[in-house]
Amino acid sequence: MRPLVVGNWKMNGLAEQLSEIEAMAISVKATLPSVDALICLPATLIAQAVLMATGRIAIGGEDCSAEICGAFTGDISAEMLMDAGAHAVIVGHSERRQQHAETDAVVAAKANAARRAGLLAIICIGETHSQRLAGTALSVCARQITGSVPEGMTASNTVIGYEPLWAIGSDEVPTHSQIMQMHAHIRACLTQRLGAEGQKVRILYGGSVKPSSADAILRLPQVGGVLVGGASLKAADFLAICRAAPLAPAHTPTRPKEQRR
Ligand code: PGA
Repeated sequence: MRPLVVGNWKMNGLAEQLSEIEAMAISVKATLPSVDALICLPATLIAQAVLMATGRIAIGGEDCSAEICGAFTGDISAEMLMDAGAHAVIVGHSERRQQHAETDAVVAAKANAARRAGLLAIICIGETHSQRLAGTALSVCARQITGSVPEGMTASNTVIGYEPLWAIGSDEVPTHSQIMQMHAHIRACLTQRLGAEGQKVRILYGGSVKPSSADAILRLPQVGGVLVGGASLKAADFLAICRAAPLAPAHTPTRPKEQRR
């Protein structure tokens, strides 16, 4: 499976930081033909970033509404992200779940909206520290998959981001055996939910991924890529993480957007 490296800029970035996207785009395809790179940005930057990325790096949103259009002041639909040139959208990031009280049902509705618009949905799940300590991490993530991944999603429109909440922005990373155990568990849950497609969905690890830790994480079984917050803000760090991805045969990935045409 071709590794996918996703950056998440969160609420960071003004127009002047788009030079980082330009720098990433210049290097990523020339030197790394076997990695899929995607940067998810604040909606204000998407259209400009798409121009700067010149198709070498895909651009995505960080959230979307479940609705298509209408009286939802301040919200942005998946169709609007698509219209701005986005290929993907993160849904159910733990910061959205926690700060905006998004439930699994809300996340599933947003994932459905992404599918409707032709965007790749990056559906995030992950346990809190107290759930990890209580020994319920596996069951929490299983429940989140059942609740947040709509039936009928496929490997071409869905990616799972496993991000233990205690690892996000903390410099604390789970052990490799914890990551392997959870990714194998997520694979089993996806297969149960999506059948054969569940075998092919990429599962990303996220939470304090740095250039120094990416290499070993990207080589673990069932890790199909990484979801990177802080270290995606600078082209040098993001590219170093991309370079850590194990070599896979180069091919042109088909994205939902292209499939619709
Ligand atoms: P981090 O964030 O890499 O800064 O820990 C990851 C995320 O929240 O997606």
